[in-house]
Formats: sequence, C-alpha cells, structure tokens
Amino acid sequence: MSEVPILIVLILGLLGLGGIWLAMQRGIIPGKGKVPSLAWGLAIVAVVYVIFGIIVPHSYQYGENPSPAPVPIPSTALGLYLVFAVVGVLTYVGTSEERFREFMGPIERFLSGEGIWEKGRGPMARKVVLVIVPVLVGLLVFQITYPKIATPTGLRIAHPTMPKKYEALENPYRHPTDQDLQKFTVEVKEGMWDAIIHPDYEAFAERLRDGGDVSDLIGPAYKRRIIYEGRDLYMINCRPCHGTKADGKGPMAGGFNRVPPADFTDEGTITTVTEAFALWRVEKGAPDLPAQGSPWGSAMPIWEPDLTRDQMWKIIMAEYDTAGVQPRTMEEH
Ligand code: HEC
Repeated sequence: MSEVPILIVLILGLLGLGGIWLAMQRGIIPGKGKVPSLAWGLAIVAVVYVIFGIIVPHSYQYGENPSPAPVPIPSTALGLYLVFAVVGVLTYVGTSEERFREFMGPIERFLSGEGIWEKGRGPMARKVVLVIVPVLVGLLVFQITYPKIATPTGLRIAHPTMPKKYEALENPYRHPTDQDLQKFTVEVKEGMWDAIIHPDYEAFAERLRDGGDVSDLIGPAYKRRIIYEGRDLYMINCRPCHGTKADGKGPMAGGFNRVPPADFTDEGTITTVTEAFALWRVEKGAPDLPAQGSPWGSAMPIWEPDLTRDQMWKIIMAEYDTAGVQPRTMEEH
C-alpha cells in the first residue's frame, strides 16, 4: 500500500489549499486578492503529483499502442519528484528573508493566533490541527516501521478453470495434415530447414535425399521444424522471464519474487494442464486470471496483441519440448 503516504500528502495539500483559500475569502488571512506564496508552494507540489502520479500513468492508455491499465511510475521515483518539488519551493522562498517570512506567515499567524482570529473559533481550529498533524505523522511512521510479515492472504490457485471457449482447442501442430507434410517435404528438398540440428530431422532429410521410404520419419521431423520456429519465438518473448531452459530462471525472473515466472520443468505447471489451457494463459496473460488465481498479482503478459495464435501454438510446442515434459491430454471416452 505504497500509495497511502502519497495520498495523505495529497489530501493534506488539498486541505491546506482549501483552508487558505477559505481563510482569505473571509479575510482571516490578510492580503485578500493576493495569493500567499505558501499556497503557491503547495499548489506546485500538488501539480507535480498530479502530473507524475495520475496523468503520466494514465497517458499509457492512449495512443497507438494503448495499455489496458494505467502504468504507474515507480513510487520511489514519484517520491523523488515530490521531494524535488518541495526542495525547489523552499529554495525559492529561502532566497530572501522577506520572501521566507511571507511564506511562513500564514503558518505563524495560525499557530500564534496573532490578531487574525475571530474570537472563539481560532483556538479551537488550532487545537484540532495540533492534534491531527501529530496523529497523522504518527500513523505514517507506524505504517512505515511496523514489521510486515508477508503471509499470503489467500491461497493462490495456479490453475483456475479456463474460459469455455478454449476448452475444445487443440494444437494444430500435434496432428499435421497430409498437406502440411507434403509441403514440408518439398521445403526440405529445397534445403529450407537445413539449419535444424536434430537427429530426427537429419535422419529424415538424409533418407529423403537417398530416395528411401520416409513415412515413419516425417512425423518426428515435422515436429522438429515446428519446435525450431517455436524456440526462436520463445527465446525472443518468453526467455527473459521463463529462462533458456524453461526453468523459470530467466534474467528478469528475480524481479518477480512474489509470483515468480512459472518453471515449466516443475511437475506442478504445464504438465498438469492441456495445451488449450497453456494457450489461454499465453493469449490472455495475468489480467484474465480470476481473483483466486492471482491474489498477489502476476507478471505474465498478454501476448494476444503481439503474437498470432499460430505463433503461440509453435511456442507452446517448444515450451513443452524444452522443459522435457508432456501436456495433459483429455481423456478419451
Ligand atoms: C514478464 C515476465 C514474463 C514473460 C515475458 C512471460 N511470462 Fe509466462 N508467466 C510469468 C509469470 C510470473 C507466471 C506465473 C504466474 C501466472 O501463472 O500468471 C507465468 C506463467 C505462465 C504460464 C502458466 C503456467 C501454468 O502452470 O499455468 C504459461 C503457459 C506461460 N507463462 C507462458 C509464457 C510464454 C509462452 C511466454 C512468451 C510468449 C511468457 N510466458 C512470457 C511471467 C512471464
């Protein structure tokens, strides 16, 4: 809940601005018509917050490649911007004693009550502020220093029910048609797939060259071709998180320690689901997980905008192959 301190700052800022405005309207603070520099200072900090905390994150939802949700900037960066804004304001008012006195004026007059308060209401308001501010600061400090134990608030269900429309899908590359195989044979003759280094492919290509019967070798060789393509796509798109060996240890994996990228070699991941389920997870990513599937969030991206379904099926073939595991198959009835 890193937003809470920032929210408190914002609320305090807005309350302050409102209060000063009200006080000026009623003539409590002298200088009606001229905005005190304290109000300017608070306004500048508030504007910085609105720009970096609200406008920038929401701006990602527009334009050519809109994000489905706001993309917040890191809270430490936002905090730094706010600190810079405060320091900037203080530096400016600190350049002359007169400016500083004017800046502090409203606070001083409020605290001392000198000559500006209508009888009765002033001391009360002061007491309220003198109680609220320490309590808020206290709460803030408590919130920051209170030891947090990261016990999960709910169990994560790694494999929730997939949407109905995915259930019946099958990986077309598991059962190529005769046409697919014929086309593949022609391509192999032309040397199109000679970059594939695998015994299954090489045996097929060799027998094809020698003019022998290849019917028993073509299936495994075709599978190698699909995995060859899928692996390329996997390396580009999935390796950063799921790792070269599909073991969930990609270079970026360390950044997601609450729900780490799935280790596909683990028995509890893709072996327990069908390929249709894997396709759903790749196509729709974490945002499509129901609440019980992601109590602590997941970094799994949506791939639908960037990859075709065809490419995803190829990646899935490669994923199972690299991990050395098999998908669950639907029981035959
Ligand atoms: C930014 C990091 C990241 C990238 C990149 C990424 N994933 Fe994931 N992936 C995750 C995380 C984290 C999980 C575990 C949480 C979850 O299931 O959503 C996951 C889970 C999965 C699962 C579900 C496994 C299961 O057992 O249910 C599949 C399938 C998957 N990823 C496939 C892919 C594929 C294919 C790609 C590339 C096209 C890819 N991922 C790219 C982070 C990533």
